[in-house]
Amino acid sequence: MMRIPYLCIVRNCKAVQRVQQSAFSTPISPQWNQQRIKLRCMCTHLSKNDRNYYITTPIFYVNASPHLGHLYSAVIADCLHRYKLLQGFNSKFATGTDEHGLKIQQAADAAGKDPLSFCTEVSERFRHLFRSCSISHTDFIRTTEQRHRLAVQHFWSVLQNRGLIYKGSYEGWYSTQDESFLTPTQVGDALDSSGKEIKISLESGHRVEWMKEENYMFRLSEFRSQLLDWLRGNPEAVQPERFYQAVLQWLQEDLPDLSVSRQRSRLQWGVPVPDDPEQTIYVWLDALVNYLTVAGYPDKYDQWWNEAHHVVGKDILKFHAIYWPSFLLGAGLPLPQAIHVHSHWTVGGKKMSKSLGNVVDPLERSQRFTTDGMRYFLLRQGVPDSDCDYNDDKVVKLLNAELADTLGGLLNRCTAPSLNPAQVYPSFCPDSFPSDQSGRAVAEDYRMLDAVKSLPAVVAQHYESMHVYKALEAVGGCVRQTNGFVQRHTPWKLDRGDSKDQRWLDTIIHVSLECLRIYGTLLQPIVPETSNKLLSRLGVQRGERSWAALNFLPRYQGMDCPFEGRALGSDSGVLFSRLESPNAGKGKPIKTKKAAKLR
Ligand code: MSP
Repeated sequence: MMRIPYLCIVRNCKAVQRVQQSAFSTPISPQWNQQRIKLRCMCTHLSKNDRNYYITTPIFYVNASPHLGHLYSAVIADCLHRYKLLQGFNSKFATGTDEHGLKIQQAADAAGKDPLSFCTEVSERFRHLFRSCSISHTDFIRTTEQRHRLAVQHFWSVLQNRGLIYKGSYEGWYSTQDESFLTPTQVGDALDSSGKEIKISLESGHRVEWMKEENYMFRLSEFRSQLLDWLRGNPEAVQPERFYQAVLQWLQEDLPDLSVSRQRSRLQWGVPVPDDPEQTIYVWLDALVNYLTVAGYPDKYDQWWNEAHHVVGKDILKFHAIYWPSFLLGAGLPLPQAIHVHSHWTVGGKKMSKSLGNVVDPLERSQRFTTDGMRYFLLRQGVPDSDCDYNDDKVVKLLNAELADTLGGLLNRCTAPSLNPAQVYPSFCPDSFPSDQSGRAVAEDYRMLDAVKSLPAVVAQHYESMHVYKALEAVGGCVRQTNGFVQRHTPWKLDRGDSKDQRWLDTIIHVSLECLRIYGTLLQPIVPETSNKLLSRLGVQRGERSWAALNFLPRYQGMDCPFEGRALGSDSGVLFSRLESPNAGKGKPIKTKKAAKLR
């Protein structure tokens, strides 16, 4: 049931890139070429299904408007989806809204709206946010849709027919905010705002209530050893490692059967249990099945389902790494390939909450700092293993330093009419970069070439493991090296009347534009609009922007370069406008003097 071919493919691709990387600074040997071809065949001889990829975000509760944390889950998944597309995969990317349950029923009541209109309104806010932030989902599911209701009821019937659901009586703690059942050890004492003693969930801090009712139970306790086998046999099933260990730890604790329905009298807003309209299906079982619904369940679903990858926040790990695999095992279905877990954003060191007034509105921020700006910030600063603190000032400083000054400055320098009056991708002169290092290029320049050559493999590895910040650190390091290269050789001081100087000048610009082409291609999953602008300025056509086109500096390897002599794109505008510090005046992206001058 557990499938591993995908991981093998990734390893093979890494092997190709490792070979390429080590061989770059030395002349190309026929053996290296042969090995490269052999390994490339291993990558392309994949069956049709192995080229499919399926990535999901959690579906978002519609009891309140989207906040920064929601956008973060979506941006991570979007980045993986775009990366897989660049690699030539057929990628399906699902997101959506979780619309059933007591919490939503109560929120609709409080707003004085009928539940469906309330859900439609809030669901639309998520769609709007995602549209504004370049989230390129291929499906947006709402759990109130008919296709989902059918999938949930079918899934329930399968579990029931396999003897895994029985009628019982549940008595214990329940948190409506988390829509979660808790054991006594997970509950603690606290005081509410009026000083009254209450019980709360120790994990989320949300209030819990004692619940006693007749409902259906799922035989969760039967799955402990199968879950352990799955995890031990697939150490990459839950990533990063810290969360994998957390799941193993939970499995050492008591794993009681799980209540999977509520009495209709208490919860009307949900999918009714098949053949028992007095019971409503537990909202987490309902919600988790969304991943199957999008894959096409119960009809034809395996082409996607066999390639499923979930992105989830750490607060919902137990539902995804314990309940969900148990339901799937119970239904006789394959388990997801991987669960990618991320940590949370705090503000001023505290969890975002309405009562603290520290909720960050992602739509407003993406308008203020641009969509690409917010995407870049979240992925550059967000570390999956630990929580990160959000701060507007940090956003401005980071974007100005890395996107406006370093990357934008490099593009600006290399395309400036003063250095490149013909506005073309100039020629590379092999004599300036001889492999015996006896030309005008110095040792540091060769080191830069090696670093940029190996960058795609480094970035791929970090994208695969969802350590996007490490990928961006690596790209940033190379951008700085390329800036250093230009700075070191001061091309603006060369004598254009001298043919040798002119050839060297052209070579400096050619190498720098090649570097920029690699950076622009690799950054597409993070900052799609900025990358598009950059690649268009370099004259790189749409069909030349895939992972397969990442053949850095072919002229150095004695091959033709398709870009040499090609006209640059006509849009010479600023790549990323500098932003004003929030303290200097709240406002829109501002073109400061420096940005205007660079133009
Ligand atoms: N509806 C469930 C998920 C069901 S999936 C079958 C849910 N919804 S949620 O709206 O509360 O959360 C959705 C996602 O947002 C989760 O991945 C959660 O971790 C993430 N975030 C919520 N607050 C967050 C932060 N403060 N920071 C980062 N992400 C956080 O749970």
